[in-house]
Amino acid sequence: MTATTRDMVQPTLKPVLVLDSGIGGLTVLREARVLMPERGFIYVADDAGFPYGGWEESALTERLLALFGRLIETHQPEICIVACNTAFTLAGAALRAKFPDMTFVGTVPAIKPAAERTRSGLVSVLATPGTVKRAYTRDLIQSFASQCHVRLVGSENLARMSEAWIRGEPVSDEAVLAEISPCFIEADGKRTDIVVLACTHYPFLANVFRRLAPWPVDWLDPAEAIARQARRKVELIHGAEHPDGFDFAIFTSGQVDFTTRRLMQGFGLKIATS
Ligand code: DGL
Repeated sequence: MTATTRDMVQPTLKPVLVLDSGIGGLTVLREARVLMPERGFIYVADDAGFPYGGWEESALTERLLALFGRLIETHQPEICIVACNTAFTLAGAALRAKFPDMTFVGTVPAIKPAAERTRSGLVSVLATPGTVKRAYTRDLIQSFASQCHVRLVGSENLARMSEAWIRGEPVSDEAVLAEISPCFIEADGKRTDIVVLACTHYPFLANVFRRLAPWPVDWLDPAEAIARQARRKVELIHGAEHPDGFDFAIFTSGQVDFTTRRLMQGFGLKIATS
């Protein structure tokens, strides 16, 4: 049965809202919950706009501003976690400017930690075509990784493949390998040793990546770091308990099939219609 958000018992503490274009933000939600067990969570999948990777920039910014406007008004969250590199590298500044009273915790490619950790100096950033084009991403490289060789790999298909994989559909090894192969570089006796997972969908496929990789690398998943940042922004109220049965997911398409419903159930999320 599908509930409306009005049917949910309102928690005493304001909830945390997590948004992505699809199921990718669940990789962040699961870490955020561990660190903020007392908070209710609202997961928003803007699946009507999925995938964000190919959107024209001003149209996607407009969409995100309008969507957050509605979500903030309806759900009055404590903070919003933008669990999507493609969205935040584009619209993070515009969101903060438009909603100055709201705290936005963003997701950006983990280029700084990768540059600090690499031994070979060869780092790859695996992201959507949108994220690799962003000025934000180029600025991160210039500010924190100018001493490294950073290869940007914009994948057309991996977000969709991750969606399929997490729903239990088959994804061929050849297809995955074709997407990750450009990440692996050998030059002057050195090899890529870190691949930044700069799309929140990709950690779902991390074990497949590990199995298919031509050599072992660190697959850097920023989910825990994002969750820690969110925890710092959300006041810890001792003695507060998680509002029982509150957490829910909204799909902007309004179309939620059986596998998606089951997946959400597995994450302890009810489906709500608005
Ligand atoms: N999960 C999103 C990200 O982190 C993007 C997936 C999409 O293309 O919509 O970039």
